[in-house]
Amino acid sequence: MTATSYAAESGSARTQVAVAGAVGTVQNPAATEPKAVEVRSVSKSFKDHQPVLRDVSLAIERGEMVALIGASGSGKSTLIRTIAGLITIDAGAGSIHVQGAPMQIGGRITASAQAQRAKIGVVFQQFNLVPRLSVLTNACLGRLGQMPTWRGVTGRFLHEEKQRAMHALDRVGIADHALKRGSELSGGQQQRAAIARTLVQGAEILIADEPIASLDPSSARRVMEILAHLNRNHGITVLVSLHQVEYALGYCPRTIALRQGQVVYDGISSALTPAFLSELYGAEGESLFLPGLEPGTTTPQRTRNFAAAIVQGSGAADRPAFAAHA
Ligand SMILES: Nc1ncnc2c1ncn2[C@@H]1O[C@H](COP(=O)(O)OP(=O)(O)OP(=O)(O)O)[C@@H](O)[C@H]1O
Ligand SMILES: [Mg+2]
Repeated sequence: MTATSYAAESGSARTQVAVAGAVGTVQNPAATEPKAVEVRSVSKSFKDHQPVLRDVSLAIERGEMVALIGASGSGKSTLIRTIAGLITIDAGAGSIHVQGAPMQIGGRITASAQAQRAKIGVVFQQFNLVPRLSVLTNACLGRLGQMPTWRGVTGRFLHEEKQRAMHALDRVGIADHALKRGSELSGGQQQRAAIARTLVQGAEILIADEPIASLDPSSARRVMEILAHLNRNHGITVLVSLHQVEYALGYCPRTIALRQGQVVYDGISSALTPAFLSELYGAEGESLFLPGLEPGTTTPQRTRNFAAAIVQGSGAADRPAFAAHA
């Protein structure tokens, strides 16, 4: 297949990307500023196990919104945790840099990792709010890494910290629920609170590990809209692992696919073919493909249009009619 190129405008960065075939790599010769995330030759094995990540290399520009897909066990969460500095990579040639500074090199977390971690907000499927604390306090906890421990432990947040938290809750549309306990919110609202916590933290890179996996379609859409909004309007770089492929196609201009710990696709989302996705997910795919995305059919035009609109940086993208699948 001949190589094609496209321009992806997402957040503050304009990214010129070359895609070679369905299984290709992304190059960015135009970029001069440090990558938001740069993963070089990273492998990861857990004790007595086969490698979970095998020589993974990828780079994410500042302001990109990238989906991470792959079958269960392909290594998505492991990759996310290594990028966030939550687990170490194998000793050897591998390295992870965040905004140009090393996070880990050759299996060792670097001295600058603490500062780098503050720039990365991580959101998980399980929301990870403290159920008995108010939503406002949960959001304030985003400041924990930047305040004396005693204040965090006793929950004594300054007025300006609470203001900042209220502002973040407002940005994700749940300011009205600030004084409720975390446990009183719906799943979608809890996930939005978790996103607000990363904003309070001041994260410039948001990494979300299946943030919509346990949400109903309407709440899932809302969370993805918020991630896309933060990306487009606030320049936050987003890496989001998704089980639902159509959300990757619909919201993320670029997709990285893992198979058995290796990158097997890195390119424009709308170029993903049903045949490739079917092969990527194998038997698991049967439960993942929604109407119109079944193996053997063409990618729906509405999804292509939507992905193309986002790629062109159009804020007025016609949202795909996910409700039809709800
Ligand atoms: N702490 C651990 N100890 C041992 N093996 C692990 C550990 N964490 C992950 N693994 C293994 O690594 C492989 C990849 O797991 P990972 O959670 O990264 O996959 P995933 O792509 O996120 O899957 P899913 O879609 O089910 O969340 C799996 O085989 C898993 O059993
Ligand atoms: Mg996972």
